Amino acid sequence: MKNSNFVTLKSFVSVEKLTVAEVGALIERAEYFKNGGARPHLTQPVYVTNMFFENSSRTHTSFEMAERKLGLTVIPFDAAHSSTQKGETLYDTSLIMAALGIDLEVIRHSENEYYEKLIHPNKNQHLNIGVINAGDGSGQHPSQCLLDMMTIHEHFGHFKDLKVAIVGDITNSRVAKSNMELLTRLGAKVYFSGPDYWYDKQYDKYGEYLPIDELVAQMDVMMLLRVQHERHAGDPNEAKFDAKKYHDKYGINQKRYNAMKDDAIIMHPGPINHDVELSGNLVEAPKCRFVRQMENGVFMRMAMIEAVMRGRNLGGLS
Ligand code: NCD
Repeated sequence: MKNSNFVTLKSFVSVEKLTVAEVGALIERAEYFKNGGARPHLTQPVYVTNMFFENSSRTHTSFEMAERKLGLTVIPFDAAHSSTQKGETLYDTSLIMAALGIDLEVIRHSENEYYEKLIHPNKNQHLNIGVINAGDGSGQHPSQCLLDMMTIHEHFGHFKDLKVAIVGDITNSRVAKSNMELLTRLGAKVYFSGPDYWYDKQYDKYGEYLPIDELVAQMDVMMLLRVQHERHAGDPNEAKFDAKKYHDKYGINQKRYNAMKDDAIIMHPGPINHDVELSGNLVEAPKCRFVRQMENGVFMRMAMIEAVMRGRNLGGLS
């Protein structure tokens, strides 16, 4: 971080490189925007495009909302009809975007760490464009992670010693990867639950893996993950999947909801499989922060985009 309170980044691809102070500054900035704080004054236009190669409702629209609230010019990009369908590489597509005058590209892609070749081109390559990662395969999801941190902070006011259970299809979830790492660094105590075949021992270093009924009454946050069927090609557990059995064994139903502490919250990045991870009746229940997470996402994404604008001196922001 530079001498001001503003976070400055050339690209925003992962939470792993952010310091705890930078996370705090981004939450503060997002809360400022949420409370009606003025957007930074742009003296030059800033052009952004949203390149979503995987499906999205909330993240795509949320980024566009954030961009428009910041006064950026949004250039449409339709991945399904783009030249990537003709075999053009993501690098070449990005080269074109930069040549057209686009300053920032928000990308969602199924390949883990697709961004490495864009932000660290080799010595014969000269791509210069800000990349904001809207989700890479089962790798990272920095904007979801930071809006989750904002939502937890809004409710509890701190992270220290909060007990957070991450439950569900953990191995396939980029939300889980980003959140387990950052929550641990922020001082929260992470626990895991869900099917053992979607858990991997490599996560033991972040927290304990326990049956949901041993966790539910102790936790401050129950963070549920969607069962990600689209990432289960070749997984023998996909053929055996039974929604009702999953819900009974690993989901939050009314009984488990009632067992939670009064002040505890449920989070889910969406989209929710009703009556799988969470009973459909509980989506808008008082302890559930699903809608609040989406509200907060717009403001956190404003803070993230601003950090890259400042890092690249875009819009006349110094
Ligand atoms: C998440 C994602 O795409 O990783 N969704 C989102 O961005 N809100 C989680 C999911 O798809 O289950």
